[in-house]
Amino acid sequence: VVMSLCSAGDHVLVSRSVFGSTISLFEKYFKRFGIEVDYVALADLSGWDAAIKANTKLLFVESPSNPLAELVDIAELAKIAHAKGAMLVVDNCFCTPALQQPLKMGADIVVHSATKFIDGQGRCMGGVVAGRSEQMKEVVGFLRTAGPTLSPFNAWIFLKGLETLNLRMKAHCANAQQLAEWLEQQNGIEKVHYAGLKSHPQHELALRQQKGFGAVVSFEVKGGKEGAWRFIDATRLISITANLGDSKTTITHPSTTSHGRLAPQEREAAGIRDSLIRVAVGLEDVADLQADLARGLAAL
Ligand SMILES: Cc1ncc(COP(=O)(O)O)c(C=O)c1O
Repeated sequence: VVMSLCSAGDHVLVSRSVFGSTISLFEKYFKRFGIEVDYVALADLSGWDAAIKANTKLLFVESPSNPLAELVDIAELAKIAHAKGAMLVVDNCFCTPALQQPLKMGADIVVHSATKFIDGQGRCMGGVVAGRSEQMKEVVGFLRTAGPTLSPFNAWIFLKGLETLNLRMKAHCANAQQLAEWLEQQNGIEKVHYAGLKSHPQHELALRQQKGFGAVVSFEVKGGKEGAWRFIDATRLISITANLGDSKTTITHPSTTSHGRLAPQEREAAGIRDSLIRVAVGLEDVADLQADLARGLAAL
């Protein structure tokens, strides 16, 4: 999207709460091509408004964000962007179109890692960019010229994934809700980040904006990094991997994996603590998952 629609001298505003490699793309690569980049706290609408400059081309957010499930009011942010002539790009990877449709709320472009829930079984890598035809013409033109083209087989897998997406997302959400509620009650857990919990500061916004709360539950454990690693190593059923969106539940330590390439101050700004664990809840029987997480708790 950035290579297709931005030029040297353009300014891009990025949420502080995005996947680690997204920050690396902006910091290490796009800046080298003369794109100016600034960061804003995701939920801070007046912060976004104040940070937009005359040359701001895009606002880029994940809602919900990886891994802390922070949200922004997408309709309000779209209005703020449009009032100043900028476009809103939403990474909708965590919700998928089954749970949230940002284009209908006013966003201009939606991106997905199709590697995640759209595939749904961790088989293929790919991505999706969706938006109006005038912008998509530029995106397709860039992709055809630069080469990151999906193979027909991967495209077929993703299309098959869409056939079951709605049902799978409902099942993912139901499992995640149960585990998040259970985790919140456990000794050893300091905080659970899941928009389906009443304790989540943006629970009301999630109810309004999303059809479900998604599959990703993050939580902070007692004992810092050592505690988090002991917890993760003690699980047996859950796969230890940085991937997410699989029918198999996966568990990871964001500060040393998905966000490991960020500088400590960038992690700090994004709220990614060493005690944080991310679970992408799959489609297994929830009692089996709970028993596995109990192994982790016992190891703290
Ligand atoms: C929200 C979000 N966007 C984008 C990506 C990047 O995905 P990919 O590696 O398939 O490009 C990830 C990966 O975890 C993600 O969580």
